[in-house]
Amino acid sequence: MAQDRGQFSSRLGFILAAAGSAVGLGNLVAFPVMASKNGGAAFLVIYLFFVAFICYPVMIAEIAMGRRTTRNPVGAFSELSDGMMRWRLAGMLAILTPFMIAVFYTVITVWLVVYIKEILGGNLQYLSEATAFGEVVSRSSLFAYLVGLLGLIFFILLGGVKGGIERLARVLMPTLAVMLILLTLFVLTLDNASAGISYYLVPDFSKVNLSVVNGALSQAFFSLSLGMGILITYGSYFSRQDNIPQSTRMVAIADTSIAFFAGLLILPAIFAFDPNTNTDDLSTSSVGLIFSFLPQIFLSMQAAVGYGGASAVAVIFFTLVFFAALTSLVSIIEIPIACWIDELKVSRKKAVAMQAVLLALFAVPAIMSLGISDFFTTFTSYGGVSKSFFDVVSDVFYETILPFGGFTVCIFCAYRWKVSGLKAELVIGDDSYSGSLLEKYINFSLGTIIPVVLFVVFISTVSQIYF
Ligand code: PHE
Repeated sequence: MAQDRGQFSSRLGFILAAAGSAVGLGNLVAFPVMASKNGGAAFLVIYLFFVAFICYPVMIAEIAMGRRTTRNPVGAFSELSDGMMRWRLAGMLAILTPFMIAVFYTVITVWLVVYIKEILGGNLQYLSEATAFGEVVSRSSLFAYLVGLLGLIFFILLGGVKGGIERLARVLMPTLAVMLILLTLFVLTLDNASAGISYYLVPDFSKVNLSVVNGALSQAFFSLSLGMGILITYGSYFSRQDNIPQSTRMVAIADTSIAFFAGLLILPAIFAFDPNTNTDDLSTSSVGLIFSFLPQIFLSMQAAVGYGGASAVAVIFFTLVFFAALTSLVSIIEIPIACWIDELKVSRKKAVAMQAVLLALFAVPAIMSLGISDFFTTFTSYGGVSKSFFDVVSDVFYETILPFGGFTVCIFCAYRWKVSGLKAELVIGDDSYSGSLLEKYINFSLGTIIPVVLFVVFISTVSQIYF
């Protein structure tokens, strides 16, 4: 059985795989947009505060739950609560959430592939036109790309924890970091880039209000892949000799650094494109920014580097985002697979096949939600807005559930497993944990301020989106 589940080969393997999950569209696109709209460095400071004082303890708790039980989220909650139904349900939510997030993340990744192919075919100019995105997402050829992408992902997942997930992260994560740094350095040499840098790095606290604070926490949760069982599952593949708090810190630092660098790339690029950019006009949606706005920015670079050069920069950027999305997607889809392996006692091969069918069943309507099918495009409406099937999945599972998932982990660890249980796991591999400041902080905050903050964010998101 242990053979079937697999394990990361080393601490570095874990860190790269967990960072592979964490670094995704959230870092490369959503973070720069949010930072630019919400006061630049002022947003950054709030974000860093949340990562350190709210997210880091929750990350540690999730990883410890996984490593203690060597099980998926359903198994972990269930084992540590002696099979109590309500905690089993919390575990099921931590399977359902990544299952559904995978649906729309897959669709966005398919669009990325199409964009890369179009730019390689010389069509950057076309992609920068206002109508291009709407046209691309309603093409029926998307199905072929969907099949190709799912084939690639499930092939990787068939390779297992070490031979599939870890190997992918070992290749793609360093590549991604190097590409990001080189691209950032290039953009910083463009005229007007300094306007973007100062916009990004000079704090403007007048833009900060409650909804900005709320958004910073949700963004930090999403970016660190928290609150949906991913770190529980990855924790279950983590060696019992290694240090959880230290490895977790590395993952949080890697994720936050990549987000920071993405800001340093995108903001100067936007200002070099149009020095008079009014950031209030930047779309709130990261999807809108990446697919509609960025092609225009890259195209504008042709004045400096020619059409070929601009296309090359665009291809590098979209490929980088694709790599980030791929490693995230693999992690999201692994969660239900781990659950089928543990709970249904099937082989990895069978679990992967089951999950491939299940995901395809939902990904097809999601991909048809942007014009291909009227039924799925105008699926329902709430909060006074018409919503597609894609929107519903994104609103419910991406925007709303994560803080709630984090809340259940905190309450569970503080009041059911108890901080003594958590500590017993955390001292393994970390001699300095016992009596440390971190231990004191976790013992105090996990059952008090952290769940309160998460619950408030959950309620305020629900009221914003649905009412
Ligand atoms: N953390 C990833 C990002 O920043 C996305 C993600 C969400 C990955 C949920 C896995 C699970 O985009």
